[in-house]
Amino acid sequence: MLQLVYISSARGTDPAAALRDILLASQRNNARDGITGLLYSDGLRFLQAIEGPADCVEAAFERIKADPRHWAIVVLSRREIEAREFGDWEMAHRSTGADANSFVRRVQLLTQHASPNVRATFESFVELRRVA
Ligand SMILES: Cc1cc2nc3c(=O)[nH]c(=O)nc-3n(C[C@H](O)[C@H](O)[C@H](O)COP(=O)(O)O)c2cc1C
Repeated sequence: MLQLVYISSARGTDPAAALRDILLASQRNNARDGITGLLYSDGLRFLQAIEGPADCVEAAFERIKADPRHWAIVVLSRREIEAREFGDWEMAHRSTGADANSFVRRVQLLTQHASPNVRATFESFVELRRVA
């Protein structure tokens, strides 16, 4: 199985609506393709891990890269994995005003089975938003 982690910047005038649409398509397609992962968004940026059969992950990532709702896509990690590190598809999204500390704890829980590097990536990203 393949696991990909990337970061990108959101583009568009209504990030909340974009996120809802992205989630709907992702849940539908990922269930079909055996893909799981975690999508974190703070409205400005996306940090996503996708994992599953290599050809399906590559195909999903080709669609994702071509998506005009984000840009500046940078792959942070690409690795072969023996077993899934993220459970079912989850979407961690912190809306404005939501409690930062409980959000940090939630992301820690969601990434608890991820490899130390991937977990550290998510935690630093979320921590960055907490202090920013
Ligand atoms: C940040 C971001 C994450 C996305 N994640 C996924 C995903 O995990 N799976 C997926 O199928 N599409 C994802 N999409 C949407 C795809 O870019 C594309 O719109 C979608 O796969 C097209 O699906 P459809 O052909 O069923 O309409 C994502 C888009 C963005 C901007």
